[in-house]
Amino acid sequence: MSNHASAPNPASRPASSPASPRRPRTQTIDCALGQNAYAIVVGVELGEKIVQYVRGAIDRDKVVILSSPKVAQFHVGPLKSALEQAGCEIDVILFPDSEEYKILPTVTAIAENLAEIGCDRHTLLINCGGGVVCDMGGFVGATYMRGVRWINLPTTLLAQCDAGFGGKTGVNLDIGKNLVGVFRQPAAVFSDINYLLTLAEDEYKNGLAEVVKYGMIWDEGLMRYLERNVAKVLNRNLSTMTAIVRRCTRIKAEIVARDEQEAGTRRVLNFGHTIGHALETATGYQRFRHGFCISVGMVAETLLALKMELIESPTLERLEKLLDRLGLPRAADDIDIDRIMNAMTQDKKRRHGRHNLILPLGVGEVCEVEDVPPNLLREVLEEVIVTFDW
Ligand code: GLY
Repeated sequence: MSNHASAPNPASRPASSPASPRRPRTQTIDCALGQNAYAIVVGVELGEKIVQYVRGAIDRDKVVILSSPKVAQFHVGPLKSALEQAGCEIDVILFPDSEEYKILPTVTAIAENLAEIGCDRHTLLINCGGGVVCDMGGFVGATYMRGVRWINLPTTLLAQCDAGFGGKTGVNLDIGKNLVGVFRQPAAVFSDINYLLTLAEDEYKNGLAEVVKYGMIWDEGLMRYLERNVAKVLNRNLSTMTAIVRRCTRIKAEIVARDEQEAGTRRVLNFGHTIGHALETATGYQRFRHGFCISVGMVAETLLALKMELIESPTLERLEKLLDRLGLPRAADDIDIDRIMNAMTQDKKRRHGRHNLILPLGVGEVCEVEDVPPNLLREVLEEVIVTFDW
């Protein structure tokens, strides 16, 4: 599965998408983490700002762009040229960015490549790509020679709203997602909304699931905004998407600043992910995209909240209606429920062998429920794993 559409043509955005009359304002959001603090710049056409940043860091002996062949078709050439024109010497390392390559052998291959081209502790890495590039590039950055500096240029909606910042880096094991990794923050993040215009449709929708998650866990206003602007969202209107990425970035930055290493508050970001990750693991990371699993996971976990009498049915109906309108799935078909239950037992979010889940108390509010009975989990899985054409 690749992130970006196959034709390297930004004009390939949906025909009905009205060009934005004015360029949306660029904003910088602080991820306020004391000595690990950094800026997340959100806007359109950020090339110049990226070049300025890298030039400012050019005491670094080497600058290396880590990306994937697919993303490189669109974005690495222009970035490399702009940096070279500004006097930087740039190396590029490309690696596959699908979830099944987010594994330790890929990390080893990248690290060996860095060593071969003479990178040392003063090297600056630029991770240019989606969630896999940011997660794995971050892990390389955090561990190569015990840590080098890196910046993230998230190119997918999912990475701009989630994986591109917050400091979770790592890779998957066969038995579970993200089971090897470290918390370590990037030096800066540049989320250029223009990158979203080249995304393949299903990759774009993949990110929309995480956007809905922020509405459900934190911000009823965001949920309303999405409900009112479905057409603009689906048409990738630049102003609308800038506003949405900014809002999601602010929410996550606030959560991460309160709880960098997921001791408490940050766990709210896992809404939809306990069941969603288990769906991904049970299907070998290949059949369904992350966001699609999170979409089904959010429905299942909201259904669980309904069964536990934490919410009333309008909360579930509102979530399902928005997911439908955005073209996101509420159910999956043909997955063995025992495999999903097994995958949940490997989840790193489990504590003392118990299933602790983030469940909604309404739209915009969640709580952590400890020790959810496995039979109840099975019951909701039986409702969302059905024959359904998506
Ligand atoms: N992706 C969830 C987190 O960053 O905590």
